[in-house]
Amino acid sequence: MSASDPQSWSGEPAEFDDYAAEYEGGLDNPIKRLLGSSPDQFIAVKARWLLRREPALRTGGLAVLDYGCGVGSLMRVLIRLGAKGAFTGCDISTGMLRQVERRWPRDLGAPPQLAPQQGARTPFADASFDIVMISAVLHHVPVTDRPAVYAELGRVLKPGGRIYVFEHNPRNPLVRYVTARTPIDQNAILLDASEVRHGLLDAARYTLDTDYLMFMPPGLAFLRGVDPLLAWLPMGGQYAIKARKAA
Ligand SMILES: C[S@@+](CC[C@H](N)C(=O)[O-])C[C@H]1O[C@@H](n2cnc3c(N)ncnc32)[C@H](O)[C@@H]1O
Repeated sequence: MSASDPQSWSGEPAEFDDYAAEYEGGLDNPIKRLLGSSPDQFIAVKARWLLRREPALRTGGLAVLDYGCGVGSLMRVLIRLGAKGAFTGCDISTGMLRQVERRWPRDLGAPPQLAPQQGARTPFADASFDIVMISAVLHHVPVTDRPAVYAELGRVLKPGGRIYVFEHNPRNPLVRYVTARTPIDQNAILLDASEVRHGLLDAARYTLDTDYLMFMPPGLAFLRGVDPLLAWLPMGGQYAIKARKAA
């Protein structure tokens, strides 16, 4: 399948349009309720990890794409935590993109640039971004469509740029329990970190690096120091893959 051929795309954007207005409801599940953690607290774990990996995000000057940005939570939380830069979001769901603008807090300034996707394909020129993030998207992409996504991530990334993939870790039994009971994940097919690494490497040349995150409930700030100590252990609730493209 070609990334430039939306006709051969089997994903269904309408499924996500249905969740756009009530996005937090779609994320609701019994464990998050039990832990009392808000969706933003889960996103903040990824944002803090990314800021440690990319300190230049704090000084600005980088072009950052959030691929499959949903309602824009990762960009919003990153900026709240001190990230600066030229942020752009894209998604196959125009309903989600409308929500980014509607929900963007006024005190953060103008919302990010936004663009709809045609299947995997984005409207951006080759080598447009220093950083491409893709968070909680791949498990929604049908397996046969995933190579087109990896190809597109590599196409829009500058030489020397970095892709950051955040995904639910299927090796963690709690994650499997939760995703089976979360409305937005009803059609999800979870994927192991090794599948992501192979998919990326089939599309371009990268230096890869994997961390596991979310060993502790995100709402408990005093346990935050635990995650970096366990990043090597493939049992965290999430994993994060950094892929640095050859210069
Ligand atoms: C669970 S949400 C994650 C949103 C956001 N990245 C975050 O971390 O909050 C999944 C998003 O992936 C989008 N999506 C699903 N399939 C996609 C695809 N094939 N390409 C791009 N986005 C896709 C959906 O429209 C939805 O906004």
